[in-house]
This record gives sequence, structure tokens and C-alpha cells, in this order.
Amino acid sequence: MLLPFFYAVVLAWTVSSSTVSLMTPIDEQLPSIARVNESFSWSFSPSTFRSSAGEISYSVSSLPPWLSFDPSTKTFHGTPAAKDEGNPVITVTAQDSTSSVSSQFTLCVTPYPPPTLHIPLAAQFYAANPSLSSVFPLSPHSALTTPDPALRIPPRWSFSIGFQPDTFTTEHSLFYDVLQANGSGLPEWMEFNSRSLTLNGVVPDDRILQSPYAIALVLHASDQEGYTADTLPFDIITAAHELCQPEPLPTINITDATPFNISLSSPDDFAGILVDGKGIEPVNITSLSIDTLSLDWLKFDSASRMLSGDPPSDTQGQRFFLPVTLGTSFNQSFQTNVSLAMVPSYFCNPTLPPIVIGDDRIVDFNLIQDFSNATSDQTGDVKLSAAFDSPASGDCLAFNPATAQLSGTVPEDFSASRIDITFTAYSNKTHSTSHTFLSLTLPSTSKSKKKAFSHPSNLSAAAHRKLVLALGIVFGAIGGVCALGVFFSAFRRCAKVDDTAKADEEGRNAWSDSDKKWYGVGDEEKGYGFSMPRAAMDIQNPFGAGAELVTPVRPTPDYGALGLGLRRVAERSGSDPISNGSPGSSQSPRLMRKGEFMTRIRQT
Ligand SMILES: *[C@@H]1O[C@H](CO)[C@@H](O)[C@H](O)[C@H]1NC(C)=O
Ligand SMILES: *[C@@H]1O[C@H](CO)[C@@H](O)[C@H](O)[C@H]1NC(C)=O
Ligand SMILES: *[C@@H]1O[C@H](CO)[C@@H](O)[C@H](O)[C@H]1NC(C)=O
Ligand SMILES: *[C@@H]1O[C@H](CO)[C@@H](O)[C@H](O)[C@H]1NC(C)=O
Ligand SMILES: *[C@@H]1O[C@H](CO)[C@@H](O)[C@H](O)[C@H]1NC(C)=O
Ligand SMILES: *[C@@H]1O[C@H](CO)[C@@H](O)[C@H](O)[C@H]1NC(C)=O
Ligand SMILES: *[C@@H]1O[C@H](CO)[C@@H](O)[C@H](O)[C@H]1NC(C)=O
Ligand SMILES: *[C@@H]1O[C@H](CO)[C@@H](O)[C@H](O)[C@H]1NC(C)=O
Ligand SMILES: *[C@@H]1O[C@H](CO)[C@@H](O)[C@H](O)[C@H]1NC(C)=O
Ligand SMILES: *[C@@H]1O[C@H](CO)[C@@H](O)[C@H](O)[C@H]1NC(C)=O
Repeated sequence: MLLPFFYAVVLAWTVSSSTVSLMTPIDEQLPSIARVNESFSWSFSPSTFRSSAGEISYSVSSLPPWLSFDPSTKTFHGTPAAKDEGNPVITVTAQDSTSSVSSQFTLCVTPYPPPTLHIPLAAQFYAANPSLSSVFPLSPHSALTTPDPALRIPPRWSFSIGFQPDTFTTEHSLFYDVLQANGSGLPEWMEFNSRSLTLNGVVPDDRILQSPYAIALVLHASDQEGYTADTLPFDIITAAHELCQPEPLPTINITDATPFNISLSSPDDFAGILVDGKGIEPVNITSLSIDTLSLDWLKFDSASRMLSGDPPSDTQGQRFFLPVTLGTSFNQSFQTNVSLAMVPSYFCNPTLPPIVIGDDRIVDFNLIQDFSNATSDQTGDVKLSAAFDSPASGDCLAFNPATAQLSGTVPEDFSASRIDITFTAYSNKTHSTSHTFLSLTLPSTSKSKKKAFSHPSNLSAAAHRKLVLALGIVFGAIGGVCALGVFFSAFRRCAKVDDTAKADEEGRNAWSDSDKKWYGVGDEEKGYGFSMPRAAMDIQNPFGAGAELVTPVRPTPDYGALGLGLRRVAERSGSDPISNGSPGSSQSPRLMRKGEFMTRIRQT
């Protein structure tokens, strides 16, 4: 039993006693070659050693006289003379508070000149290069751009990157190798073949390696194997898509001195932004923010992508630049600018007069009469598009850009009461957009609902209030009787009813929810409200407009304790409105109850 514990203690002690460890032997880091009469400088990787006990201090032994070492930067420097040619062995010792570890490496001092660069990597990373397979060179203005030449590879792709043998030239032999920029060996999903000069691999799934992921690599070239004469940094970026912006965002044309609301949801609003070489779809833009702080008459709502403003008249002819940040569904983003031009718009008005759709629910609207002839649309460079406020609206209405005709039929069961449409005109000649906003109001759907509520006993709000008042008075009378009952028979519960008669807050709080419903007080949304026409009760359907109105099942309250032989009528009538399935019929018991109450009171 104690043995494992003992081993654990020994193990812990061993681990804690050797806190500094060698991560990457210095010999494997391809040290630079020192050349006679040339200054030499090389540092080993900062992550060569790792310590769990804080600061590491470095020391070196067997340094040749021409070479010196700076422990703070881990750098060797000096200039060898002709007599220094050779292969000195140097030992680096790393020490922390508890332990130390050493790594030995051999330096190479040579009188030969280094290889010279012949074909830079940037000139090798082009799409038609037959040595590149299953990789994508980055487009200019790509959101993935890094300072070094880069190639993009989608997750799960196998790839092969062949380097030109004459990337460097020399009179002597030539060796190539590839390491990570921090001096580590390659990640396990790729390997470099130094004979064929190819870097091959399979990119991990993006669940393992979150994309976009950029890995910094370095091609080492040398005239001595295991050393470095020159390096060429490059990057591999794992990403399924590439966002790029060869053109700025289209200029937004705005008419001065006219308030506007424009929704930036047409693909034309993002003309010039490409995903894998094709225009971006607005659905793939997950975040869009426009910094409007510099203009106090302008606002942008990121959630609805609505740019709204009321430009003053003295802005005519001006142009404003606003910073924009755009994020996409594939985790790439960039910052850019959008310009607003205060010019005559392609449309006569930024907001079209709202249209109320007739009872036939047919939409047939032509935009042509709203074109302004102030802009140069005669050249035919303007393309029209319509963006709907919801996909459901787009399903029932169609816009023909050639004829500028909006047509369709809104189905009876359409859930919203309004359809908002933003029309966008895009001119590819001037790379600018103009917008106009149209609101369609649907005919009231209450017509069909009214039929459902055609029960004779529908009550206006005023009538309802009167009924509540009447019931209050009735119960007040009962309360008075009860108060007498309290006086004579000391029945405590009757006093509670007395409270309800005064209808004060405390009394109401004492009521159960079903009691409140019964009296029509308070929480009307849950009670009779459902059985009334919406307009009459002025309530909100909590299930959203168009949802079926449901009469909740009301529990039969226990009313026996009143002690007056008064039984709540609900016991009899409470079940019928639900069981006969007609929402309107639950109204009728209420009127009957009033009469019944009077009868009962008389009996009492
Ligand atoms: C070098 O960077 C890679 C990835 O950035 C990392 O996994 C590796 O541990 C680093 N190497 C060292 C020695 O720190
Ligand atoms: C190095 O410099 C010395 C003195 O300036 C010169 O004699 C020698 O030839 C040079 N060696 C090389 C390899 O440049
Ligand atoms: C998005 O990319 C960043 C780095 O570019 C990365 O840190 C992050 O984990 C990525 N997120 C997702 C959800 O892939
Ligand atoms: C823009 O939208 C807001 C909020 O929906 C509205 O109050 C305003 O009247 C609209 N302005 C125009 C010009 O349509
Ligand atoms: C854009 O969004 C659509 C719908 O969500 C999706 O099917 C498509 O893959 C996305 N495109 C890119 C490039 O992410
Ligand atoms: C945006 O505009 C400002 C000023 O006009 C400019 O300095 C900046 O470089 C622009 N940014 C981009 C991403 O174009
Ligand atoms: C935007 O305004 C410019 C300058 O008046 C005009 O040339 C261009 O056609 C307009 N674009 C649209 C789409 O209205
Ligand atoms: C614009 O020109 C067209 C054809 O020339 C004409 O039918 C239309 O009425 C004009 N619109 C305005 C607002 O003047
Ligand atoms: C603009 O679009 C029209 C029609 O789509 C096309 O014929 C024309 O070449 C485009 N012009 C430019 C400058 O892209
Ligand atoms: C019900 O209410 C509607 C609208 O308020 C009214 O037109 C109708 O005449 C009412 N029906 C009865 C039976 O009172």
C-alpha cells in the first residue's frame, strides 16, 4: 500500500531536483557558419532550455579567443581570422536555482564565400508553379497576409511544396533544411525531404488546429550540412477560405438634407470584398461595425446593419470616410474604410412612401418612377437589387432587377405585419451605391380572427371594465355580509373576503392567481384575455403575432370555506369553454355567473 506513495515521493523529488531541462539540442538548431574576415553573430533559441524554477543563467566554456558570448541575448559574436578556420566545440551550460544542464555544439569556421540567393521564395509562390501542389498562394490584399511570403492550405488537405534547387547558388555543395522560425523542428504533420527539397504533409482538422493558423517556417541553405549560411522565412497558413479586399467598399451616395435609413444587406454593398475570389455573401459577414463617432447626424446599428442619419444641408458635395470592421463566419476579419458621398442619389427619395397591401395580398410595385435622372444611369452601369428584412419576405416576394418590378403574394399565414425592403443601386463604373427604403404594411389579419370570435358576448374594453366593477360591487356586498358573519360567528376566513371587497393591494396579494383571473384583476394575459378579441382587450399575444390563441385550463378553485353555501360557479362552467374547443365560448359563462351570483346572493 505504501510503496506507490513512496515512489511518488521519490519521483516528485527527482523532478523537482532537475528543474532545468534541454528542449532542443543546440547542434540541431543549424548554427550559422562563421566566415574568415567577416563578422559573425548567432544566437541559439530562447526555448533551448526550460526551467520550472525561474530564471536561467547561461555560461559557456571552451570559447575560441575570437568569439565572445552575451548571456542576456544568448548571442555569440566575433570575427574569425584565417588562422581560426576549423571546428571548435563549444559547451553551453544553463543553470537555475537548483540545477544545471549542458548542451554541446560544433562551430564551423570557413574561408569560403556563402551561397548567394538566386530565386526568392516570393517568386516561387505563384499559382501556376508545378512544384506546388494543393496549396494556394495568398491574393494581394488578403486578410491572411503576413510579412513573409505565405501559402494557404485548407484543413485536412495533403500538400507538397517543392523548392527550386537553384534558390541559392554556390560553387561548392549546397544543403537545404526547413525549421520553425523559433528554431524547433517541424510540427509532426509535415516533413521536409532534403534530397527532393519538398515539404510534404497533411494539415490537421480545424477542430485540432483552429483556423486560420499561421505557422512561421524558415528555409535554411548552407554549404555545410547541419549549418546555416542563409535563411528565407515563409509562412504556412491553414484556412479553408481566404478573405481579400482588392477594392475599397463602394461609396455610399447620400442625398443631403434628407433623412435616410439604409440597410447594408445587399451583396452589392460589399462589392470588392472577395471570399476565395468570389463576391462575399452578406450571410457570411457575421459582424459589421461602422465607426460613426465623427458625424453626429449619423448612426449605425450593427445588429440590423442599418445606417441611418439626417444629414444637414451644408454637407452637400462633401465626402466622409468612416472606419469599418468586418468579421466573417470563417474567423477572418479586416479593417477598412467606407466613404459617404453627399451627392444626388440614383433614387428620388431615400424613403419611399409606405404601401398598404390590399386584401388580395398581392404586391405589384415598380421602382422606375422613383429613379432620379440626376445621376448618370443612362449608361446602363447601374445594377439593382432588393434586400428583404427577413428570409420569409424574400420567399414570397420577387424583385426583377431588369424591369425594377417587385411582385408576389404574401401568404395568409405570414407572421409579420410589415415587410421592409432596401433597394440598392450599384454602379460598377463609379463603384458606388445608392439606397432607397420601402415599407409594405400587410392588411390586418383580424378579419379572419373576428369570425372566430363571433360569439355574441364579445365585450369592449369599456364593457369589460364595467363588468369588473360590477363584480367588485357584488363581491363588496358579499364582503359586507361576510363581515357580519365574522362579527357573529368569528369566522376568520370571511375577513379575507372583506379585504377583497375593499380591493386594496394587500387583499389582492392574498388572492391566488386563479382568483385574480376569476375577478379579471391583474394578470389578464393569462386569463380571459385569450378569449377576447385582441383589440378589445389590448393585450399582447405572448406566443407572437399569428400564433394560435390558447385558453389555459383553469383549475377548479376551492371555495367551500366561505361558509355561505356559495360555491364558485367555475366548478360547473369552468370545464365547458375548454371542452367544447371554441375559444370564444369561454366568455359566455361569465355573464351567466353574474346572474347566478345574484340568485345565490338572494338565496343566501
Ligand atoms: C516553437 O513554436 C511552436 C509553435 O508556435 C511551438 O509548438 C514550439 O514549442 C516552439 N518551440 C519551442 C522550442 O519553444
Ligand atoms: C582576411 O584578411 C587578411 C588581412 O586583411 C587577408 O590577408 C586575407 O586574405 C583575408 N582572408 C580572406 C579569406 O578573405
Ligand atoms: C479565430 O482565429 C484566431 C486567430 O486568428 C484564433 O485564436 C481563434 O481560436 C479562432 N477562433 C475560432 C473559433 O476558430
Ligand atoms: C428610420 O428608422 C427609424 C427606426 O426604425 C424610424 O424612427 C425613422 O423614422 C426612420 N427614418 C426614415 C427616414 O425612414
Ligand atoms: C456562407 O454562408 C453559407 C450559409 O451559412 C455557407 O453555406 C457557406 O459555406 C458560407 N461560405 C463561406 C465561404 O464560409
Ligand atoms: C482609412 O482612412 C484613413 C484616413 O482617410 C487612412 O489613414 C487609413 O489608412 C484608411 N484605412 C484603410 C484600411 O484604408
Ligand atoms: C453616386 O454618385 C456619383 C456622383 O454623383 C454618381 O456618378 C454615381 O452614379 C452614383 N451612384 C449611384 C449608384 O447612384
Ligand atoms: C427619368 O427619365 C425617365 C425616362 O427618361 C422618365 O420616364 C422618368 O419619369 C424620369 N424620372 C424623373 C424623376 O424625372
Ligand atoms: C459593369 O457591369 C456591366 C454589366 O453587368 C458590364 O458589362 C461591365 O463590363 C461592368 N463594368 C465594369 C467596369 O466592371
Ligand atoms: C363584437 O365586437 C366587434 C368589434 O368591436 C363589433 O363589430 C361586433 O358588433 C361585436 N359583436 C357583438 C355581438 O357585440
